[in-house]
Amino acid sequence: MERIVILSGAGLSAESGLGTFRDAGGIWQKYDLEEVATPEGFARNPALVHEFYNARRANCAGAVPNAAHRALADLQHAHPEAITLVTQNVDDLLERAGARSVIHMHGQLTRARCAGCGHLWAAPMVMQPDDPCPACAARATRPDIVWFGEFPHHMEAIGAALEATDLFVAIGTSGNVYPAAGFVREARAFGARTLELNLERSGTSGLFHQTRLGPASRIVPDWVAGMLGQD
Ligand code: OAD
Repeated sequence: MERIVILSGAGLSAESGLGTFRDAGGIWQKYDLEEVATPEGFARNPALVHEFYNARRANCAGAVPNAAHRALADLQHAHPEAITLVTQNVDDLLERAGARSVIHMHGQLTRARCAGCGHLWAAPMVMQPDDPCPACAARATRPDIVWFGEFPHHMEAIGAALEATDLFVAIGTSGNVYPAAGFVREARAFGARTLELNLERSGTSGLFHQTRLGPASRIVPDWVAGMLGQD
């Protein structure tokens, strides 16, 4: 099979009941991004930021993968060498659907990180500002989430995958947040074909060779069935 890089966003998990960010009623209409998703907001009020991510961790634990997560895991199982799964999502629904080696460029709710020594460990369901780091004991515990103004994780590996890929597919992302929003241009510059699967046209739809519209739970399994049918 040809090489495929798949970038997912909040739309992939919307039908599992996890809210998106910028749709009507989305997370950034209910919360002030500056207060809960920036290093400055965390410095001002760590308890508020932990409370926000504790609530999202609880939502995530109560959610189940949908047909789109399962279809992507099936595609990866069928062609583990060909498929690179990159996600902006901090939930673990792709993993719980059976996917492996998912590149979480914006971090993961299930991990805690020490801002002092960089140690990573499994996040407890409820994190608090004075939780000590299990490695260095510093009281500088934060969620392993990439906030606005911070560098996304794994950019080198993602860049290499975009350079090598034959097809780039973006699923359920509005194309508002860089660097992920720029991956379609990067992939095209390296000669890849590009496909967008989204509920509605996004800000970056015009950059894709093709856009297919509909809910992820329908259009992702349809697309995967088509790809597996070509085997
Ligand atoms: P957004 O909320 O910006 O966009 C979600 C996209 O999914 C929109 O284009 C919706 O139309 C689409 N969508 C909604 N429901 C869908 C469904 N059932 N099926 C398919 N598509 C659907 O979320 P992201 O693009 O993921 O970062 O946001 C990117 C980053 O901004 C997030 O990782 C987060 C946020 O601020 C940080 O917190 C650092």
